[in-house]
Amino acid sequence: MLKMTLLVFAVCCGTPAVPPNTGRIVNGEDARPHSWPWQISLQVKHGSRYHHTCGGTLIGPRWVLTAGHCIWPGDVYRVVLGEHDMIQQEGTEQIRDILRIVVHPNWDIDHVADGNDLALLKLDKSPIMNDSVGVACLPQAGEILSHGAPCYITGWGNLYTHGPMPDKLQQALLPVVEHSVCSRSDWWGITVKSTMICAGGDVVSGCNGDSGGPLNCLGQDGRWYIQGVTSFVSSRVCNEVKKPTVFTRISAFTEWLIMSYNNPLNDHSKPLRQTKMTFSTSVQERCKKTAALCSTTSYFTSPAV
Ligand SMILES: *[C@@H]1O[C@H](CO)[C@@H](O)[C@H](O)[C@H]1NC(C)=O
Repeated sequence: MLKMTLLVFAVCCGTPAVPPNTGRIVNGEDARPHSWPWQISLQVKHGSRYHHTCGGTLIGPRWVLTAGHCIWPGDVYRVVLGEHDMIQQEGTEQIRDILRIVVHPNWDIDHVADGNDLALLKLDKSPIMNDSVGVACLPQAGEILSHGAPCYITGWGNLYTHGPMPDKLQQALLPVVEHSVCSRSDWWGITVKSTMICAGGDVVSGCNGDSGGPLNCLGQDGRWYIQGVTSFVSSRVCNEVKKPTVFTRISAFTEWLIMSYNNPLNDHSKPLRQTKMTFSTSVQERCKKTAALCSTTSYFTSPAV
């Protein structure tokens, strides 16, 4: 069963029709349009309008992976796929509603350094897969990238610390920093856990990305894998030396991903009351403060197993 799920999702993943521009080492640049077709824009509703709030990655026909800290109970979200230039209607955009939001049960906004900063979003229906929308590959369980492995962060995040948001999708080369280096006391120290992956952290590292978006790494098979979900950066400046960008390491969460796909709780054809829903403690705390916001059934975490 587990193997089957992985196989289904591995079909045609990580092979963009428009190859990304990887020829140059630069400090962030506009991405080639639609060369990261799994990149999505997670948008939150304010009044009658939606605003970009986080990045995310299409990892299955109806599944998007983003960061746990991107999700607030009660907020209404949508996903835009096939996006490149935020201010232009390019005709490639596909908008989907979110049917289910599954935040990792151990994610806690008050303890970011504990990790588990992940959320899975189930779309109301699959987007049409074409040259501007496709899925990224998921890494093997437990896979660890070597120090210096060339990966790319993508997103519409700030161009520089507290800078403006770019209209066009940005990409920046971020070489992986291995855990033994990233956890040195003058780097991130004990803040960074082995379930995280560090990349960047010197002058060539960029700020160009945003929360919830992918760390894209080319596999030996020539496919692009999402190895990380952007979690946090230094609060001082985003390209501080020895403070690489920290990602949730996807290869540490393969089991949770498979469990969530197969969880009957996340299958909208089954009545929800068959399975007990559990909120994480931090969500319960937040719900106490904003009780009205938590009455929505669209928000719950998967039961801790
Ligand atoms: C992909 O599908 C969408 C939705 O049908 C469409 O708008 C778009 O033109 C298609 N092609 C490309 C290259 O995006």
